[in-house]
Amino acid sequence: MKIGILISGRGSNMLALADAVSEGRIPGAEIAVVISDHANAPGLALAAERGLTTLAVERQGRTRIEHDRETIAALHEQRVDLICLAGYMRLLSAEFIETFRHRILNIHPSLLPSFPGLDAQRQAIEYGVKWTGCTVHFVDETLDGGPIIAQSPVPIRDDDTVETLSSRILIEEHKLYAAAVALIVGNGYEITGRRVRGKTT
Ligand code: GRF
Repeated sequence: MKIGILISGRGSNMLALADAVSEGRIPGAEIAVVISDHANAPGLALAAERGLTTLAVERQGRTRIEHDRETIAALHEQRVDLICLAGYMRLLSAEFIETFRHRILNIHPSLLPSFPGLDAQRQAIEYGVKWTGCTVHFVDETLDGGPIIAQSPVPIRDDDTVETLSSRILIEEHKLYAAAVALIVGNGYEITGRRVRGKTT
């Protein structure tokens, strides 16, 4: 299965997925392309250093639909089956989501449905919850609201700052994303309504 990873920034989840593929922890998977919506995203240079195929589809000067169509074309060209959003800071158009229905995954730094959107770690601290974590989910038309594939909990300590909490969640994100992608690539799941469950047969 060919994976396309979309990033906008530092790309640590992208590297975690690349490590998992090269270490054989996602059997049957290959990273076909890493695409960024910013040519200067640090993660894009790191992906190129790894020998991965990289591409920048600049968002500047394009409407959302023009930009998405160009990205879709690049994903088709690389024969991508599964898309992993990894810190991709752009909302996808309905056309993009429809083109790859149930084939787009995202990782979010909270236990959804709590704290969707930006600054999820700060939202959790300010709300005062004692546990947060990370979630891998399918992307649909809602903001961080698609069917949940996997979650990991992380406790919030009394002395946590956004930075300390984010770095502990990030460690879990890297493990969780690889495990969730392995589940999807291995086709060992079924979707009933919103529920994504391991196959029983
Ligand atoms: C992660 O916290 C991820 O959950 C969120 O954006 C951040 C991306 O970090 N969607 P990185 O670029 O993968 O290091």
